[in-house]
Amino acid sequence: MTQNNLNNITVTVNGKEHSLSVEPRMLLSDVLRDELGLTGTHVGCEHGICGACTVMMDERPVRSCLVFGVQANQAKILTVEGLSNADGTLHPLQEAFREKHGLQCGFCTPGFLISACHFLEENPHPSREEIREGISGNLCRCTGYQNIVDAVEMAAEMLSKDKISETDQCTVQAEHPAGI
Ligand code: FES
Ligand code: FES
Repeated sequence: MTQNNLNNITVTVNGKEHSLSVEPRMLLSDVLRDELGLTGTHVGCEHGICGACTVMMDERPVRSCLVFGVQANQAKILTVEGLSNADGTLHPLQEAFREKHGLQCGFCTPGFLISACHFLEENPHPSREEIREGISGNLCRCTGYQNIVDAVEMAAEMLSKDKISETDQCTVQAEHPAGI
């Protein structure tokens, strides 16, 4: 299992399986960014506070700065890169963030998108208050949250009109390359 203090892990990220060797102390956020080149997952505080590093892991949103890579062995991960479709079509949440100006510097956006994707699956018809509560684990230094709440509200409407197509579900996307 270990050789030169490395652990072999296999992890499925955005529907693609990867086998790699990582140091036991390596964080999942670093595995994604440094080993797999998926720099859409942002690292802000590295203390589990800001939520910028949020990814889906086995159908749950997790802060990837608080998970060791070895803990992700055999897990299915969805990062922000897996939200859009293979043909480049944006996920309704991405469209809504663009439409409602839910981003400024964009640093917090990947974490918000993943958190909101999971939130809307749990609560497809949220009130604005529930949206605020649902995204309260993610911090934004730029927007004042108003536009982010607007964007999540808009995405909820878009998704309910679409009757939530399978490819828009973040739990499904984790198992299929680029949301196919
Ligand atoms: S970088 Fe992980 S919560 Fe801030
Ligand atoms: S858009 Fe800049 S931190 Fe949120």
